[in-house]
Amino acid sequence: MFDVEKIRHDFPILSTKVHGKPLVYLDNAATSQTPKQVMDVIVDYYSNYNANIHRGVHYLSQKATDAFEMARDILKNHFNAEHREEIIFTSGTTHGINLVANGFESLLKEGDEIIVSALEHHSNIVPWQMLCEKTGAILKVIPITEEGELQLNTYKSLLNNRTKLVFVNHVSNALGTINPIKEIIELAHNADAAVLVDGAQAAPHIQPDVQKLDVDFYVVSGHKMCGPTGIGALYGKKFWLDKLPPYQGGGEMIATVTFEKTTYADLPHKFEAGTPNVCGAIAFGKAVEYMTEIGFKQIETYEHELLEYATERLLEIEGLKIYGPSSNKTSVISFNIDGIHPYDIGTLLDNMGIAVRTGHHCAQPIMDFYQIPGTVRASLAFYNTFKEIDSLVEGVKKAKAMLS
Ligand code: ALA
Repeated sequence: MFDVEKIRHDFPILSTKVHGKPLVYLDNAATSQTPKQVMDVIVDYYSNYNANIHRGVHYLSQKATDAFEMARDILKNHFNAEHREEIIFTSGTTHGINLVANGFESLLKEGDEIIVSALEHHSNIVPWQMLCEKTGAILKVIPITEEGELQLNTYKSLLNNRTKLVFVNHVSNALGTINPIKEIIELAHNADAAVLVDGAQAAPHIQPDVQKLDVDFYVVSGHKMCGPTGIGALYGKKFWLDKLPPYQGGGEMIATVTFEKTTYADLPHKFEAGTPNVCGAIAFGKAVEYMTEIGFKQIETYEHELLEYATERLLEIEGLKIYGPSSNKTSVISFNIDGIHPYDIGTLLDNMGIAVRTGHHCAQPIMDFYQIPGTVRASLAFYNTFKEIDSLVEGVKKAKAMLS
């Protein structure tokens, strides 16, 4: 039984006030809030077993190592990876993407093609542009429709025997569109291209099965999934992770070092140079367990109801336009009101204690497509309530009246 009031008690920040008003937190696509169960794990780690991992025979080091590796198992099971060493801890989605982009530098040659979508976050555009600059590969773009959906027919026509890689997000951070990644992956594999899916915005709402999807790389961030910032994970098929060179050199990622030659550690350590974010990984594991206990299916169903209600209520406001009104989206609503700058609405909402994101959401090509400077984005989580949606709607109405 999904009990939102009970869930809200787990999140101390949700009962705080901002500018003297009860906080209405609707910026979950940027950072989700943290339940006390996850905070307790962080306090426990620093109070009782803070130590470096994989390095010491002493008790604390072993305890920290066990907890860190257990977190890897939690993620392995959550994403249904075949092997635990296919989960690499990163500092977040951006790090995971750059790790893969860097690795492909040695595998690409001039004239190879890579495909991204027009729905991407800058973090899934810029690393590939940098890769193209270094290798002479060519970047092709899958365009979108007015509904904010990918044009699959154009995608099919872009694929050919020069295509080596395809990069798409599972869910658009700016619009919330859920992309048909299973089909995208199948088509890419038919052309012998590998696929990286940016799962940063999907993983907080949908539980992906990397084996069923047959995806080559899937990247996520802990801070969008009730975990802390500075931790994320890259899932990579063992085949690819074995093939790619290490991203960074340092401790932990080596097997032997001499001045003549260094050999690299086995997976996953080959990609985890230096002291990792031990506490962050353990807390991320706890956050995934926390969300699993609530149930990803329940989360998806409840958030969908919130989304439908919010969409219907916001559309009551004259002059309000929602961008990317796809029928297949997560609980993200990106909107503007005729003649009013999104930043002004965001600022007035903030004064009312309502947190939304305004701007281009690190997805300027989407804003260019709609020919707008940005949007107001309300992104909902499973701990938001229908009452909070009412506050948002009343807030937007007030802001509109003040700015018109
Ligand atoms: N990528 C995050 C967002 O969409 C920061 O807000």
